[in-house]
Amino acid sequence: MRKKIVAGNWKMNNDLAETQTLISDLKKSMPATDAEVKIAPTYTSLYPAYEALKENTIEVVAQNMHQAENGAYTGEISAAMLKSVGIKTVILGHSERRAYFGEDDALLAQKVDAAIKNNMDVIFCFGEELEDRKTDKHFNLVESQLKNALFHLDTNAWKHIVLAYEPVWAIGTGETASPEQAQEMHEFIRNTIAAKYSQSLADEVSILYGGSVKPNNAKEIFSKPDVDGGLIGGASLKAEDFVAIVKAI
Ligand code: G3P
Repeated sequence: MRKKIVAGNWKMNNDLAETQTLISDLKKSMPATDAEVKIAPTYTSLYPAYEALKENTIEVVAQNMHQAENGAYTGEISAAMLKSVGIKTVILGHSERRAYFGEDDALLAQKVDAAIKNNMDVIFCFGEELEDRKTDKHFNLVESQLKNALFHLDTNAWKHIVLAYEPVWAIGTGETASPEQAQEMHEFIRNTIAAKYSQSLADEVSILYGGSVKPNNAKEIFSKPDVDGGLIGGASLKAEDFVAIVKAI
């Protein structure tokens, strides 16, 4: 049975004090759940967050990492450095990394390989721009992102992979994909994986939806058969909203 997951991507928000306050609020209000719950603070808060939550059921994950083991990469952080502070999962391929920092499928394939080489799990983000959808190219685009960054992996490596379909036009806009749009793309993604590998492998891959998930739309989106949870941005910055979304799964 594939995992249900709700992960909060805090992006570049919350200094250490704000992180500690939000974590305290989450610990007080997070319900028992069969879903995996994760939060992704910024680098400066990763270790304090890990320490604050290591007895808890909320996993702390990183928002990115460099593909090299170490070296002259000013400002970067490696998988080994993340593991040294207790982090075992990393978000890769977020549209903001692609748009603002030029991360393309080829680089992301290297990052995925580095994470798996270090026995880390990956939440791999991808999704189309509005223009792709308007011109009916969204399925082709999503398929190419999967093929170029992930389809070199062997079947065993896929135990490390969680997918996060995030239509760029829904991120931070309040313009959420409809539950039907999400299900249609998630089903396409699962079928694409099945065609490349096998139906049994595809059925085990958790596919999260991200893009303006809120307490008032989460339940319907999560009710779709190929939606296995969500990657939450803005709504993860308020404990009550994030908890409401967790309760919806
Ligand atoms: O990674 C999740 C994020 O991109 C979604 O952001 O604010 O639309 O929930 P938001």
